[in-house]
Amino acid sequence: MNSLSDADDPKRVVERGYDQVAHDYARLKGESEWPRMRWLKSLLSRLGPGSAILDLGCGSGDPADIEIAKEHRVTGVDISQAQIDLARRNVPAGHFIHGDAGSVEFPAASFDAVISTYTLEHIPREEHETILGRIYGWLRPGGTLLISLEAGEVEGVISEWLGVPMYFSCFDPETVKQLVSRVGFEILETRIESQVEQDTEIPYLWLLAQKRYEKHSNPDKHKATIRWLFEDVWSQGNFEHVTRYLAPQFTFHFRGRTFIQAPDDLVPIVST
Ligand SMILES: C[S@@+](CC[C@H](N)C(=O)[O-])C[C@H]1O[C@@H](n2cnc3c(N)ncnc32)[C@H](O)[C@@H]1O
Repeated sequence: MNSLSDADDPKRVVERGYDQVAHDYARLKGESEWPRMRWLKSLLSRLGPGSAILDLGCGSGDPADIEIAKEHRVTGVDISQAQIDLARRNVPAGHFIHGDAGSVEFPAASFDAVISTYTLEHIPREEHETILGRIYGWLRPGGTLLISLEAGEVEGVISEWLGVPMYFSCFDPETVKQLVSRVGFEILETRIESQVEQDTEIPYLWLLAQKRYEKHSNPDKHKATIRWLFEDVWSQGNFEHVTRYLAPQFTFHFRGRTFIQAPDDLVPIVST
């Protein structure tokens, strides 16, 4: 491993690297079972159909965005044009942007979920908290985050990977969890899981988190809004949408009476 010199811009190293190895990387996933789809399906089970999902560092879109696009709207961002070209071919219904996760812009509260798998370790770790904070801003309250990155501590190195120079940088798993919490997320589930790549077992930190619902200075007004929201969607008969998308943390029974249990500062609302 070489130390990072001033002449080596990490972003350009990664961009060039993935432009060259996009096809070889795609072949790696055929070697052994990776936990990626299990975690993705866990995230998708929390969403209603037609949700807006962002994939930061989407790669070729195979298999995650192919799965997402079956029921949802997917936007992918990748710094490698070769990966974006593959993603556009693999997921015709997706919207793919050639750009840097550190500078791409989206409107606030425009996604129901954001995923970023095996990508943060290619971005200088000094940027990780800022990027997590930007993701937090792009998510709607209650929105879900899924990330995975190498479970190790790497200050910023360029090493050979799949035959090309590649940049790696990450904090240890405990620090990553602290950063996720510090930007405001509630961590729902996290685990270190190893997978085999080129005959080597590599541990990754997986983390599922949720953007908190906002505290309301005027709870009465907020209760009225929630009641309106539910009754509006309810009247259209889309119960699945109500239960799984609008308020996934709420519990209620639909047998003549409706009991809605709101989180945090909200009291239960009962309507008949
Ligand atoms: C190991 S691949 C993972 C691809 C996909 N997420 C998956 O699960 O297979 C990492 C991807 O992140 C992309 N990437 C790395 N740094 C990036 C950055 N700063 N902005 C956007 N994409 C980036 C790379 O080009 C590459 O396609």
